[in-house]
Amino acid sequence: MSKIVVEKLSHTFGKGTDDALTVLDDINLSFESGSFNVIVGTSGCGKSTLLKMMAGLYQPSDGKITLDGETIEGTGRKRGMVFQQDAVFPWMTVARNISYGPRLRGASKKECAEVERKWIELVGLTGFENRWPRELSGGMRKRVDIGRVYANDPDVLLMDEPFGALDAQTKERMQTELQELWQVTGKTVIFVTHDLEEAIFLADRVVVLSARPGRVSHIEDIRLDRPRTNEIRLSEDLLAIKRRLWDLLEH
Ligand SMILES: Nc1ncnc2c1ncn2[C@@H]1O[C@H](COP(=O)(O)OP(=O)(O)OP(=O)(O)O)[C@@H](O)[C@H]1O
Ligand SMILES: [Mg+2]
Repeated sequence: MSKIVVEKLSHTFGKGTDDALTVLDDINLSFESGSFNVIVGTSGCGKSTLLKMMAGLYQPSDGKITLDGETIEGTGRKRGMVFQQDAVFPWMTVARNISYGPRLRGASKKECAEVERKWIELVGLTGFENRWPRELSGGMRKRVDIGRVYANDPDVLLMDEPFGALDAQTKERMQTELQELWQVTGKTVIFVTHDLEEAIFLADRVVVLSARPGRVSHIEDIRLDRPRTNEIRLSEDLLAIKRRLWDLLEH
């Protein structure tokens, strides 16, 4: 079943002005419920713009995006967004950050404590409940960031280069952890990255956008066995896909 459907979507910033810039052109995509989708494309091709439209932060100038059959207009709780820069509140402990969304919606103390227990364990922060963000490493802050979005119980996670600011080793660890989290929760993920290895490692399906204006130039189904381990990164299968996608991006 399709969770999110993008239909005939085009977008021009400053439409009708001298500075008009068309960034997306006739995008048609559908994302299956529970699938892990990755969007790749060269810098400036419109990946973030497309993701922000799914989040409801921008309205497309043409076409539409639907979630469970309803047109997306504005942000909503069903869609959680994770950016490259984490959105952790420095003045709240790890636990308070995790339960921020439920608390804001009036969840009881008991419910908040339950949310904190569940997500702190699932993102691997047990023992750090009462720490402050400044006491954490970049990877740990990212775990808080992701746990906080999951704690809102969205149907769809929209992730824009969430691991882009992490060192290579931490990034690999976070990819493995995200895969586990996705397998446990079964939520639909739409993930944007520049990094082809990351894309192939994580995805059920990689969508390749052409250079600006972004168009869907290729869709690659990734059939590598799960759970994917670090060995797979060096496998011939992964490298062959990477070469193919690399060539597509180059042209
Ligand atoms: N709010 C805006 N107003 C005008 N132009 C914008 C706006 N946001 C983005 N753009 C332009 O649209 C184009 C696409 O930007 P976008 O951020 O979607 O690209 P991207 O594919 O995410 O790039 P990157 O890989 O570098 O993150 C860029 O040329 C950018 O300058
Ligand atoms: Mg971007």
